Amino acid sequence: MRHFIDTQDFSREELEELLALIGLLKDADRDAAVPHVLHDRSLGMIFEEPSTRTRVSFEVAMVKLGGHALYLKPGEIHLGVRESLYDTAKVLSRMCDVIEARTLKHSTVVDLAGDSDVPVINGLTDYNHPTQVVCDLLTMSENLPEGRRLDECTVVFVGDRTNVCSSLMAITTQFGMSFVHAAPPAYQAPPEWIAIGEANAERSGGSVRVTDDVEDAVAGADFIYTDLWWWVDQEDQIPERKAAFMPRYQVNEALMKRAPAHAKFMHCLPASRGVEVTDEVIDGPQSVVFDQAENRLHTEKGILVWLTYPTLQQPSDEVLRKHERLIDSHLKFMSWDREPSTEPAGAREPAQPNHG
Ligand code: CP
Repeated sequence: MRHFIDTQDFSREELEELLALIGLLKDADRDAAVPHVLHDRSLGMIFEEPSTRTRVSFEVAMVKLGGHALYLKPGEIHLGVRESLYDTAKVLSRMCDVIEARTLKHSTVVDLAGDSDVPVINGLTDYNHPTQVVCDLLTMSENLPEGRRLDECTVVFVGDRTNVCSSLMAITTQFGMSFVHAAPPAYQAPPEWIAIGEANAERSGGSVRVTDDVEDAVAGADFIYTDLWWWVDQEDQIPERKAAFMPRYQVNEALMKRAPAHAKFMHCLPASRGVEVTDEVIDGPQSVVFDQAENRLHTEKGILVWLTYPTLQQPSDEVLRKHERLIDSHLKFMSWDREPSTEPAGAREPAQPNHG
């Protein structure tokens, strides 16, 4: 059994196989014909932070695959409060076939996977966002410049070193792409991320570059990607972050004009319009952000099937019929009254509670 915690845990060939499955499921969805390969299966979705795309895409993906998803929001389950992470993992493993978790700390999802007996999918942590960047690779492959392959393209990530930046650096370099992070020095990718990207690039033929020269960076971009300049726990840093990024690192029309005309604009969303990106760009002809958002749905379907299907017991027709017969005959011969009782209310002994 495997978990989906980091794209680095998978080979390029495995990720290509996953992307091919996502493509098949997307085509099936276009024909309203997604096979119910996760029929009657359940996904437990743990969220320690808010979400629109991740929550909705996983929940809808499970329904389209014939299964069911449970949204377990902060404060509604005993995760790490009144109950250990280990106990939560064991209990969810007994009731669900797969778990998705968005956790504040990366170590939480790693520990959850370590204790879980069913596959765990990382739905974003303070370190990375692997499901997002599989979706991004799909979106890029659907929006390639004329006559070019993915490994002939350059992605320029403009702005803060977010969890998406970390994951995008890893997956693009694994696929032989050139990755450039353009940010002020204090917000640039740390050496440990660059080391991962460089090791990937050495194997794949890609490259990694970090620079504060955003104008030079976008001049060679096929894809320009940005993300929020601050997250919920960084609101006290807004003045210093704005001062560092604005106006030079805002993706606006002036910056897009420095890029080749074919360059596409991408954003994982949510976006702060007028902050890291302007309305003209996000709503403009080069933007693919809503195709990208829709691709989260197709990506989650692929990841759920790819990871979970091999772990599922598939009972034979003979076993199904045996249990149906046994349960049916038990129901027929159960001793409780078939007809409504004619006894007056209160004539029977009340049931005694045996719990609590
Ligand atoms: N991109 C992304 O993960 O969006 P949500 O925070 O809405 O899930």
